[in-house]
Amino acid sequence: LEAEAKAISAKFDYTDEDVNKGVQEFLRQMSEGLEKDGTSLSQIPTYVTAVPNGTEKGLYMAVDLGGTNFRVCSINLNGDSTFHLTYTKVAIPKELMVAKTAEELFAFLAQQIELFLRTHHEEQFEKHLRRRMTISSPVGFVDEDVFRLGFTFSFPIQQLGINKGTLIRWTKGFDIPDAIGKDVCALLQKEIDKLHLPVKVAALVNDTVGTLMARSYTSPGKSGAILGAIFGTGTNGAYIEKLSNIKKPMQGEYDQSTGDMVVNTEWGSFDNQLNVLPNTPWDVELDKESINPGIQMYEKRVSGMFLGELLRLVVVELLKKPHVAFFKDESSDSNDWKSTTNISPTSSLYSQWGLDTAIMSVAAADNTPELVTLRQELETTLHVYAPSLEDAQAFKAIAGAIGRRAARLAAVAIAAIVLQTGSLTNPETADEPVDIGVDGSLVEYYPYFRDMIYEALRVIEGVGEEGAKRIRIGIAKDGSGVGAALIALVAAGMEKAEP
Ligand code: BG6
Ligand code: GLC
Repeated sequence: LEAEAKAISAKFDYTDEDVNKGVQEFLRQMSEGLEKDGTSLSQIPTYVTAVPNGTEKGLYMAVDLGGTNFRVCSINLNGDSTFHLTYTKVAIPKELMVAKTAEELFAFLAQQIELFLRTHHEEQFEKHLRRRMTISSPVGFVDEDVFRLGFTFSFPIQQLGINKGTLIRWTKGFDIPDAIGKDVCALLQKEIDKLHLPVKVAALVNDTVGTLMARSYTSPGKSGAILGAIFGTGTNGAYIEKLSNIKKPMQGEYDQSTGDMVVNTEWGSFDNQLNVLPNTPWDVELDKESINPGIQMYEKRVSGMFLGELLRLVVVELLKKPHVAFFKDESSDSNDWKSTTNISPTSSLYSQWGLDTAIMSVAAADNTPELVTLRQELETTLHVYAPSLEDAQAFKAIAGAIGRRAARLAAVAIAAIVLQTGSLTNPETADEPVDIGVDGSLVEYYPYFRDMIYEALRVIEGVGEEGAKRIRIGIAKDGSGVGAALIALVAAGMEKAEP
């Protein structure tokens, strides 16, 4: 078993040379995406041209769809790099992720906003309702009562302006074809208006953009953060690009004075053509069985939604091998492979998505000689009966190899963006850290994920030991709510500036 686990783990090796090749290809695909539409790295201009400096103030709302939970929050920006956040979160019902119509999903979101307002901002809500009774305007909005809302919508969007954007494609298990090509802000506003809520969708934001904004608000340096990245259910990054490098045409209005614009890379689809991405038989199988074969190929090797499934496919393959003593019931002489295991026939391990990536974190964290915690977890979550130490060791080794490959792939994207922005060679910021804000369950909970990223960064040409020391990867927890509020604030400023 040990030899078998070693051989499989080796298939997930991603060498220093691979990492460097990956960076070069990432840089190439980034440039391609800045030149034209329809490339695998979408490089979407966001119309956000400046990052905050911490002095921004005001009360805003934000909703956040696309991570593990749907969140509704109100955010008080205090103007001194701090904020106060009130939020509720709810898991999105699975059936709404694949609903027939977009309306069903967006109606649910609007109901959650109503519930939040009634719970946390009742006074303002009631005041608005009373005014609505006395003033006859089409939807009853009276400006000073209306919350401006930043909508964090973490899917690829063709951004047409600060609060307008059409859905390019769904990712992360969502699949509602009816919504493709529609303006998601308008869809949400329509449902909000049906409930007569005092809310105006003021800004449309990807979670990575929100994370970048929030990081710059809370830890402003001379130049703020250069990259906001998510390593959670999905993975993606948004960074600050020079306007002059964005060669493809842009449709919306934007302020050109800073010379910069935040670009949403949608790096989940880096190298869909598999020029450099590793591709084991389990990667092939996972992709084939997914609802979007051939796309989000980088995401399928890096993010939380997929790592557990990759591990599950490997485990199931090993269980099927009669000669490998992996989770085997020694007393069974059945011909049916499932009956030869010491795993309950009803274990989720036998179904697609049945192995939650969280158990990989438990495996990585358990460094005790007997692997007691991991063995307990195997019993409780996967219904393995009395897993042996050898079983747990093999499970840990394979899970570790998959996690390590993911972290080294994450380093590819991070390094490429550091190099693209020239942050390590800019003489004006030579004495400052190169700041990167990150969020998401993987980077937050998977032990040593950041350490493994740093280890890979050190071997990357153009970064090296010295460069890696300057790169500061910091968690921007719940960042995108704050980030969305900050962009709603910018949007409100733009409205006022309109004649
Ligand atoms: C949350 C952010 O903290 O992290 C979301 O508010 C983001 O915007 C999410 O999508 C990503 O993490 P996960 O693990 O929930 O996908
Ligand atoms: C997926 C989405 C992307 C998002 C990322 C992280 O890759 O397409 O928009 O930023 O997940 O949530």
